Amino acid sequence: MGAATTIAVLRERASGEHRVSATPETVKKFIGLGAAVRVEAGAGVSASISDEAYQAAGAEIVASGAATGADIVLGVQGPEPELLAGAKPGAWVVAGLDPFGKRERVDAYAAAGYEALAMEFMPRITRAQSMDILSSQSNLAGYKAVIVAADIYGRAFPMMMTAAGTVSAAKVFVMGVGVAGLQAIATARRLGGQVSATDVRSATKEQIQSLGAKPIFVENVAGIEGEGAGGYATEMSPEYQAAQAELVSSHIAKQDIVITTALIPGRPAPRLITDAQIATMKPGSVIFDLAVSAGGNVEGSVADQVVEKHGVKIVGYSNTATHLAADASALFSRNLFNFLSAFWDKEQGKPVLDEEIGNAVRLTQGGKVVNERLLG
Ligand code: NAI
Repeated sequence: MGAATTIAVLRERASGEHRVSATPETVKKFIGLGAAVRVEAGAGVSASISDEAYQAAGAEIVASGAATGADIVLGVQGPEPELLAGAKPGAWVVAGLDPFGKRERVDAYAAAGYEALAMEFMPRITRAQSMDILSSQSNLAGYKAVIVAADIYGRAFPMMMTAAGTVSAAKVFVMGVGVAGLQAIATARRLGGQVSATDVRSATKEQIQSLGAKPIFVENVAGIEGEGAGGYATEMSPEYQAAQAELVSSHIAKQDIVITTALIPGRPAPRLITDAQIATMKPGSVIFDLAVSAGGNVEGSVADQVVEKHGVKIVGYSNTATHLAADASALFSRNLFNFLSAFWDKEQGKPVLDEEIGNAVRLTQGGKVVNERLLG
């Protein structure tokens, strides 16, 4: 075995990014595998982790040049190529790389000879669940969306019987019941809301019911099954879309809070709520658009702003999980550790990927872009 594999943890540079890609817990575990870990000073501060805590876990803290000599560089978002200066030839860059949105940066990683591994391309297979950053971060986002909506809403969530009279429960409608939607339903229920939900995948009906919410589904329309490859949604037929719009129109007018989470991989988010539908809602209602950075499910939503239309407040964050930086970092960091440790080759003292997961997440290798989804 040669020198220990060196893992570098960079401070995030993107504006509004408060997460970090390793925690003292995962640093300790990497060291347990035989790696050396170097953390850029201040990397964890906005996730409430001090340099001293990393040091106590066995990391070396460096003020600059954290990537120098590194075999593996970790990030939440993809680091700018300049930050990788001095990393070993062929070093791995492991982060949420936004491969479609930041294509030029992917090309730059290739040109510099790095092997870029995009964690959002993790396949949806059982053994990769613990490595899936989309799930871990969406779950927290679903929770936060409800908390933010509840805060902006000028009324209470639970029904309250008081001496001064009754406060009625908030009616909450969740559109899109994937990982974020399920957590949004659970959170709204915990707060005492009266919850209903919809999705294009009929398998979610039972999940909605099991959380104590009411399913609102389009029935008897052609092209009703919206489940495509890997458990993701597909784009729906025009008949379905029309029936869905009608159903939503009648339901939405009675709602106080609407949380939208619908995404279709590789396509803009489906438009689920129009301005005309917003106009039918009661003044003071709140819509949280979790898909705002993918183009938005809601007409008029603007990332990181509260927009008021027809007396309804429309909210959406460009990066929702960052608003729960400490928990989001802990889960994200574990996803990275679970990924790298699952492939750790004891003989070689470094991770060696298998074909199924390697080919899915690897974007660049040997100076070239190699990922099918980027070449296709
Ligand atoms: P997502 O973030 O891609 O989409 C969110 C939800 O929006 C989905 O439930 C989707 O069906 C729904 N949607 C799309 N278009 C819609 C429309 N027009 N109207 C209403 N709803 C619409 O999905 P997410 O959260 O990533 O999960 C999708 C499925 O994949 C879930 O069943 C989840 O359990 C599964 N999954 C499996 C994993 C694994 O096995 N490793 C990891 C992550 C998720």
